[in-house]
Amino acid sequence: METKIITLPKFEDPRGNLSFIEEENHIPFKIERTYWIYDVPGGQVRGGHAFKEQREFIVALSGSFDVVVDDGTSKQMFSLNRSYCGLYIPCGFWRQMENFSTNALAVVLSSTKFTKSDYIRDYTDFLDFRKEYEKQRI
Ligand code: TYD
Repeated sequence: METKIITLPKFEDPRGNLSFIEEENHIPFKIERTYWIYDVPGGQVRGGHAFKEQREFIVALSGSFDVVVDDGTSKQMFSLNRSYCGLYIPCGFWRQMENFSTNALAVVLSSTKFTKSDYIRDYTDFLDFRKEYEKQRI
């Protein structure tokens, strides 16, 4: 599955709405870890790296922010601002989170446990990684 917005189930109720996510059903991986980003000061940017293995699903549980996803050739921006929609990102994409609103809460479901060596933090290394990745896909 490519990078895409996935709309989650939503039970609308006068008492308040309810949404949920099931692993390997609404999202195409098993959840090994969940983390969240919050209290982001205005103008700050998070992310700015790629993962070799980690696949992820990002939801703006509260507030809004943008996720810029880069495959080494072109960039795509996704605005997240609904708690029943999330962005699925496969491994091998450079991604950055920016334009956080006040009180934004970003929850990230990850297919892997935290592994420092899975990060690609240098953009030139990322482009090399993409070259290899594209070669393997041919
Ligand atoms: P990082 O992923 O680098 O955040 P960002 O790319 O948004 O700046 O994580 C920041 C720090 O938190 C880094 O030192 C690693 C640590 N960390 C964990 O220990 N476990 C985790 O699950 C995550 C996501 C980060």
